[in-house]
Amino acid sequence: MITAAVLIIVAYLLGSLSTAVIVGRLLGAADPRTQGSGNPGATNMLRVAGKKAGVLTLLGDMLKGLVAVLIARAFTDEPAVLAAVMLAAFLGHLYPVFFGFRGGKGVATALGVLLGLSGWIGLAAVVTWLLVAVITRISSLSALVTAAAAPLYTFYWLGEPVLAGAVTLMALLLFWRHRSNIRNLMDGTEGRINLGKRS
Ligand code: G3P
Repeated sequence: MITAAVLIIVAYLLGSLSTAVIVGRLLGAADPRTQGSGNPGATNMLRVAGKKAGVLTLLGDMLKGLVAVLIARAFTDEPAVLAAVMLAAFLGHLYPVFFGFRGGKGVATALGVLLGLSGWIGLAAVVTWLLVAVITRISSLSALVTAAAAPLYTFYWLGEPVLAGAVTLMALLLFWRHRSNIRNLMDGTEGRINLGKRS
């Protein structure tokens, strides 16, 4: 019980490390919360600070989700505890205690969490995101399609309702955080990823 509580708190604190803000400060680059879409995430860092900042943010946000789940899996394989740890890391990214509870939309952290849960689920999610991104070059649409598919992947590979439920909850929260992107997608005004930008 105490172990579970510690694992959940550690996951939340790891999730609360807002990579975009940290990378922005370390590189002396933009604060993503005040520029571009205002989102402290990899896509906005790519947009406002260039490729290097975007990639570092993507890796950092994925890594914290991955590490949180791997730490938990070293202590337990109890689905309810793993589900809570996954949600805690994800919620830490969305509502970071170190950054005034104003966090990002959760895409990279969710990918990291899924990779920690199962290599196959994580790989399927990454491939889904890449496929949609290559076809449409729209980051938010790639994230939304991947989020919709992730609960199915989880149920298919693990057959564990509690874990599939946690991934479904993450997907719903991710959709909620992308409501302005969804409005833009419906208006046809959502921006595309520009990988040609120099860092
Ligand atoms: O990773 C977040 C992405 O899906 C959308 O970001 O900055 O275009 O709102 P942004």
